[in-house]
Amino acid sequence: MSIDPSRADWSDELEMLERDGELSRPWVEQAARWLLVLHPQPPVRRFVDVGAGPGHAACQFADLLPDAMITALDPTRAFLDRARERATQLGLSSRFATYEGALDTDVHAVAPADLIWASHVLHHMPNPVDALRRLRGALVPDGVLAVAEGGLPMRVLPGGYGVARPSFVDRLEATVGDYFLHRWSLTDSATGGTKDWPMMLAEAGLEPIASKTFILEHQAPVHARVREHIVDRFTRVRELVSDRLTSEEAAALDRLLDSSDPAGLVRRPDLFLLAAYTVHAARRPA
Ligand SMILES: C[S@@+](CC[C@H](N)C(=O)[O-])C[C@H]1O[C@@H](n2cnc3c(N)ncnc32)[C@H](O)[C@@H]1O
Repeated sequence: MSIDPSRADWSDELEMLERDGELSRPWVEQAARWLLVLHPQPPVRRFVDVGAGPGHAACQFADLLPDAMITALDPTRAFLDRARERATQLGLSSRFATYEGALDTDVHAVAPADLIWASHVLHHMPNPVDALRRLRGALVPDGVLAVAEGGLPMRVLPGGYGVARPSFVDRLEATVGDYFLHRWSLTDSATGGTKDWPMMLAEAGLEPIASKTFILEHQAPVHARVREHIVDRFTRVRELVSDRLTSEEAAALDRLLDSSDPAGLVRRPDLFLLAAYTVHAARRPA
């Protein structure tokens, strides 16, 4: 997923989100099945994916909810075009709709929903609690909102990634974390850390039900799409935080991104992808 939070126009992220959606299928599938156990009754008839991107998750939910109307909402037309193409290819078009709009202003237009999925979109909102309130208003009483945010940092190689001391990996992650904490509106003024999603859900008038974390693992040897994803991710990290790294850390990152270096991400046979994604579920009180 994107690691640049401030963009107004997302369309140049299409191919990255396509690849991310493809690689994320296993954890999204597990999360969707978990949510459907949490929300057995009333049956989900109307499902909305807000900030749906090119529609991978919306189509996965559509598969699991054969009686539901599925709506993918996103402000980026190119993503919705791709989502519709995907739904058509999968034979879902008769119950798959798209809505071009923003959750902050337009979610009422796709309401009411029994289940809303909001994956990696709310941290981009200037006021996530206000956005959660709007989503609450778009749910039927007892309807469920599932927010996929946070989890664990991605790991891609053993130890210090073969280019630095093992602490390099934690340092890099901490630098990226600090960078985004202050760009996203998620800083808790009391602790200086990240705001807690169940607390924000409760502040928005929803009843948190549970939070669960899902592991994503692509084992070594990874296929080309996984490698591409990892290289892309590290390239973005270098663009964003290289000026915050020590010269030793910046040099280690350069080595990882050097395609002629046997220790680099492009050539390493032991590259893997291990990540964890957390989903927070909450109910609109009846
Ligand atoms: C990081 S991507 C996440 C896409 C997808 N949900 C996923 O998890 O892969 C963020 C998505 O939010 C959309 N977005 C940005 N601002 C939005 C807003 N105000 N309301 C709804 N969606 C928005 C972007 O167009 C993009 O598709």
